[in-house]
Formats: sequence, C-alpha cells, structure tokens
Amino acid sequence: MAKLLIKNGRVMDPETGHDQVADILIRDRYVVRVGQNLHAIAATLFDATGLVVAPGFIDMHVHLREPGFEHAETIETGSRAAAGGGFTSVCAMPNTQPVNDDATVTRYVLERAARSAVVNVFPIGAITKNSAGQELAAIGSMKNAGAVAISDDGKPVMNSRVMRRAMEFARVFDLPVIDHCEDLELSAGGDMHEGLESTRLGLKGSPGCAEDVMVARDLLLVEVTGARYHTAHVSTRRSLELIREAKARGLPVSCEVTPHHLALADADMIPYDSHYKMRPPLRSRQDVAALADGVAAGVVDAIATDHAPHPGSEKMQEFERCPHGVIGLETALAVALQVLVHSGRIPLMRLVELFTLGPARILGLASRGRLSAGMAADVTIFDPDVEWTYDVNRSLCKARNSPFDGRKFRGAPVATVVGGRIVWQR
Ligand code: DOR
Ligand code: ZN
Repeated sequence: MAKLLIKNGRVMDPETGHDQVADILIRDRYVVRVGQNLHAIAATLFDATGLVVAPGFIDMHVHLREPGFEHAETIETGSRAAAGGGFTSVCAMPNTQPVNDDATVTRYVLERAARSAVVNVFPIGAITKNSAGQELAAIGSMKNAGAVAISDDGKPVMNSRVMRRAMEFARVFDLPVIDHCEDLELSAGGDMHEGLESTRLGLKGSPGCAEDVMVARDLLLVEVTGARYHTAHVSTRRSLELIREAKARGLPVSCEVTPHHLALADADMIPYDSHYKMRPPLRSRQDVAALADGVAAGVVDAIATDHAPHPGSEKMQEFERCPHGVIGLETALAVALQVLVHSGRIPLMRLVELFTLGPARILGLASRGRLSAGMAADVTIFDPDVEWTYDVNRSLCKARNSPFDGRKFRGAPVATVVGGRIVWQR
C-alpha cells in the first residue's frame, strides 16, 4: 500500500471551513486522516511548511483537443499543463473531431485519459449532434459512459426549442447543462467587444447584449424545465445580474468566470495581438469590475480557465482570421490570486472554494473538492506568495497562445497530488 504523508501545511477545507496547520495522511487513493502530529511507517514524506494544502483543484472548462486536433493539444499534454497549474481534475469540452456527442467518443476520451493523463479527466458530452444545434445528442448513453455534464461549448444552442428539450432530458439524467451564451445574430462574427475600443481599432464588435440575451433565455427555460443549468465564462455585468436574480428566486443555476475575463479589459489588449482574442471577448472595465464584485458577493460559483490551445501557425494570422481562445491552466491560480486575494477582495478560503468545492458541487463530484478522511487523495499544494515570471515558452502544453507571457506574479502551485501520487512538482 502506497502512503503519502504531507506534513505541516496550512490545510484549507472549504467544506468545513477548517484552516489550520496540520498533516494529511494518504493511503492509496484516499485521504485517511487529517490531524496534528501524524506518523506513518514507510510513507513518502512531503514537507509543506509555509505552504497551503488544499483539495485538488478542478477546472470544469478545458479544451483538450483530442480526438482530432492533436496538433494543438492532446489529453496527455493538456493534463500535464493542468498538473503544472495545480489542477487535479479537468473537464474536457466536446468540441473535438469527432464531437463527443455519443458514448463511443466519451469512452474513447476516458480510455485515452486512463493511458496518458496525469490528472483526472471528466468528459462533457455535447448537447446536440455534432454540436450543430439541431438534434439532441445521445445524452443518456453519454451519461452512462461517464459524461458529467452536457455542453455545445464554442457554439451556443441558438434554437430555443432544442434547448428546452435538452434541459428536459438533462433533468431526467440529472446532468447539468452548460451553455456558451452568445446570440450569434447579435455577435455577428465580431472580433472583440463592441465599444469605444473596437471603434478605435476598426475591428468588428460583438456586443455584451449578445451574451445577456442568451443568459436571459436560458434562465427562462430553466424556470420551465427545472434543469440544473450553468453559464460558462460569464463576461458581462448584466449577465451576472440576471444570474444573481435567478439564484435569489431559487433556480438551480450556477456560473463560472475565467481568469482572463477577471484580469483584462478590452482596453488592455495589445492592438491586433491575437493572444487577446477569445469568445466571449475581453469586455469593458465596468464589466471586469462587476465580475470581481460577483465573485466577492458569492454569485460566481467557480473559476474555470476555458483553456483553448491553438497552434502558433493558426494564431499568427491577422486578428480577424485567427481562431478564438487562450491557454490558461498554468496561470489560473496566479491570476486569480492577484485579482481577487492580493487585492483584498476575497479571503483565500473563498478562492480555494472557487477552484474546488464550487465546481465539485456543480458536477456532483461527491468525493472531490473537499479535504477530509474518505475523500479522493487529490491535493493541490501552493505557495500564495512566491514571486515568479510566466514564460509561455516553458509551458507544458503544446500551444503558446497566452496574453500573460512575461507577467510577474505572486503565488504559484508547488505540487499536485492525484490519487495519492505526486504527479507534478515545481
Ligand atoms: O475562445 C474560445 N475558444 N471560446 C470558446 O468558446 C471555444 C474555445 C475553443 O474551442 O477554442
Ligand atoms: Zn465557450
């Protein structure tokens, strides 16, 4: 039996609120004890003095690109980058080739993960066949095969009747529906947020209301169907207000924000630099401030990266032509610490919750996101204060499309423990 003893760390468990210096004893794949002065014979020792020891971080929004786009990322390389960012679990979005709209693909992702991933991979199935927005995907059989949610991420479900049916099915199978909220008629192929900056740069704008309209529609459909519903990468003040109201009315609604939408506004873009191009786009300063307020007020349930690797050859085109998306696994913790904790907006425990218990609750992962006896031995060990500079060329993932290259940060992961094994160490 493999044993790991993590000594003298600041153990933080958002479920119980416990925050104290303690030891954690792990045997095989489970946490056996959390307590003072623990000893174990023949255990691997990890000295966590001065470090935070948290439940394993969960990133519920990652594009691993396998199958089909292995030139951009694979389950193996994406999982290594996840471990390097302190994540012990990631959810794999279904916009692969083929799309994960069927149990065969779900099982393929899980089999590849079992062979090559260093972190847990939870597949998200598509809402519609080929994510084309017309016919429902094989929701029940994907759930049986291991899908933890459904989403057509990258594409919104434009047809409201289809979305209503999807929610009704998802409710029967007790799966959350995750929507990429964007009214394509309103966004109309815009390349950045519509506002003064888009006018100044002469780029086509995508207005904030393209998101708000879809969030509002989805929330009305949740009222009708009772489905568990989650808005991906919320980026506007108005969307967040709608979600807050829906929650106040008791609807089963949750949402995530990305580190890049928390840290950057449209005015921060280096003009025409494609490393600032993603969907939804970087919004106005007011929107960015509203997202941090929403986190502080408890409206936001999770931080998720929307890690979207694209090869340099594709990103290095004119702004209008290049694909949307930025990588984010290895900078997520540092960006979140900077914007939310070091700025004094939220306590460290709340940040830990956003990376752990928050996503675990949304996804129904009962043995993860918590740190007590009997839980899965997934642990994230980090230093909230170490100063470092991000060099994207040293990234463990295949792509290099980050807007944070060269940024100085305070706080970084130190070790990542998955199923009782140290899979990455700084
Ligand atoms: O910027 C994005 N990139 N947004 C999405 O919704 C999809 C993602 C991708 O797959 O590249
Ligand atoms: Zn998306």
